[in-house]
Amino acid sequence: MNSRPRVYVTRALPRKALDRISEECDAVVWQGELPPPREELLARVSDMDGIVTLLTERIDSEVMSKAPKLKVISNCAVGYDNIDVKEATKRGILVGNTPGVLTETTADFAFALLMTAARRVVEADSYVREGKWKSWGPTTLLGQDVCGATLGIIGLGRIGAAVARRARGFDMKVVYHSRHRRRDLERELGIKYAPLNKLLSSSDFISIHTPLSADTYHLIGKTQLDKMKRTSVLVNTSRGTVVDNVALAEALRRGTIFAAALDVTDPEPLPPDHPLCMLDNVVLAPHIGSASVVTRTKMGLIAAENLIAGLKRRKMPSLVNTELLKSNKSKTTKF
Ligand code: GLV
Repeated sequence: MNSRPRVYVTRALPRKALDRISEECDAVVWQGELPPPREELLARVSDMDGIVTLLTERIDSEVMSKAPKLKVISNCAVGYDNIDVKEATKRGILVGNTPGVLTETTADFAFALLMTAARRVVEADSYVREGKWKSWGPTTLLGQDVCGATLGIIGLGRIGAAVARRARGFDMKVVYHSRHRRRDLERELGIKYAPLNKLLSSSDFISIHTPLSADTYHLIGKTQLDKMKRTSVLVNTSRGTVVDNVALAEALRRGTIFAAALDVTDPEPLPPDHPLCMLDNVVLAPHIGSASVVTRTKMGLIAAENLIAGLKRRKMPSLVNTELLKSNKSKTTKF
C-alpha cells in the first residue's frame, strides 16, 4: 500500500494505542461513550482499509459488503464472537484478537467474583451502609467456605488454567471440563478432567471460561442448574449467553443454587429491571474482567499492532483466521 491506510476505530482506545495507530494510518475514531450506531458504522466503513472493533460491534456480512477495501478487522478483545469470521475469511479479510495479555487480569476478576459471592461481600457492604448492622450476630450473612472446596472449571484455556492456579492457593480441589483434555495441565496443576454432569454435581464453585460458539450457547440451563449443589456458586466471566439467564434467575430465586457472580450477562447491558437485578444472591459486574489500566493499554496496543501488521502484509501478533495464511488468499496477499 503506497498511501497511508484509512482506518476506523469504533471507540477511543487508551491513548498509547491510538497514538500507535495514528503513526501509521489515517484514523477516524468514534468518540462516543456508547458504540457507534449501526448506520454510522455502515456508512463509515465504505472507504476503510481497516477497522478496530470492540465486542459491542457486530461485524457481519452486511458490514463487510459495505466495505469493499477492507483488509483487516482488529478486535480489541480476546473473544471474537461479534465477528463473522467465516465470512471475513471468505472475503480474504484478516481478523485479529488480543489473547494472552488479559489472562491474569481476567482470572483475578473471576476469583474476586467467586470470593465476593461466596462470602456475600456486596450484601455485607449494603448491610453496613443501610444501618442494618446492630450487633455481631452468630448467623448474620453466612456464606460458603472457599478454602478446601471443589472448583469446577468449564473451559480450560489460558484463563481457565490461570483460575486453576489461583485455586491451588486456597487448597481447592479442581476438576475441569473442556473441549480438549489437557493432560499436561492435569499433571502440572494436580487437576482432574470430569464429564460436564459429574463436574456440575460435584463442584462447590463453578467458573465458566469457554468461548461462545454454537456448542456453548446456553451450555448452562435449567437441566444443568438442577444438577448443581444447593450450596454451589456459579461464576461467569466468559460470555453471557453461555448461561440461560432466565433459568439462572429462577434457580437463584428458588434456591436451587446458593449464588451467582456474573461479569457477563444476556443481554448486555443488563437492564436494572431484569429479574437478576432483583436478587440479593447474585453479584453483577458490567463486563470488566480485563479492565485494569495496564491490561487495557496492552490490549489496545496489540489491536493496533494487529491492524498495522495486517495492512502492511507483515505477520500479525495474533491472527484468528490463520487459514488465510495457508491459502495465501488474504487481500493483503503474502506475508
Ligand atoms: C472480553 O470479554 C474479551 O473477549 O476480551
